[in-house]
Amino acid sequence: MPNDAIGAIASGDPVLALRSATQALHAQLDSQLPLAQPADATQSLHHYHAHLSVLHGWLSDLMPALQRAGWGQDLLEPLRADLADAGLAGEPAGQARPPVQTEAAAWGLAYVVEGSQLGGRVLHQRLRSAGVRVPLRYLEGRGAGTAAHWKGFLQSLRAALVEPADVAAASAAACWAFEDLLARFRRSGWIQDAR
Ligand code: HEM
Repeated sequence: MPNDAIGAIASGDPVLALRSATQALHAQLDSQLPLAQPADATQSLHHYHAHLSVLHGWLSDLMPALQRAGWGQDLLEPLRADLADAGLAGEPAGQARPPVQTEAAAWGLAYVVEGSQLGGRVLHQRLRSAGVRVPLRYLEGRGAGTAAHWKGFLQSLRAALVEPADVAAASAAACWAFEDLLARFRRSGWIQDAR
């Protein structure tokens, strides 16, 4: 975890702590994911399916832990529907088990999964502008309700993460979720190893 993230844990706001702990990892995804790069409609759709396939394995493995926080579980269904349209099943579950022993850690995972829907709105718009016409249920998520849903999630998260030790456990779990996702994209050859 970066040093400024440790400072943010001490500041008392769990959202600031989670954001600063994961900022650099998010930037890696944002700058490296093929889906986030400009492309034509055919290429964008190809990237979308590859993206969903990797996310399928990742989300499936997070699902049991997400149940402990009670958020982020309803995203697998639209993701599977988009994969099914393309005749794909996605990467299987069982590649990694999240190191989650406490409910606080489960909130850290939920932060990453729920937060990914914010970027999803941006990607949805880009794919539509590139000319992709198929349903994009996963990226569409809650549509116009995304911001309100995120606000409600942050409210619950702040109520759940009060003790500094819980904020630290959630931040560590959130970093794990990002790193696991990056590792899956590297293994499937969609992003290069930066190290
Ligand atoms: C599946 C991969 C991704 C994950 C897990 C992820 C995760 C997150 C998280 C946790 C947040 C919340 C940050 C916060 O406000 O505390 C967030 C916000 C955001 N992400 Fe991503 N993200 C992903 C991919 C992307 C990509 C590829 C883009 C590029 C378009 C992107 C753009 C954004 C934007 C624009 C926000 C909103 C920032 C704001 O409104 O304050 N994300 N994402």
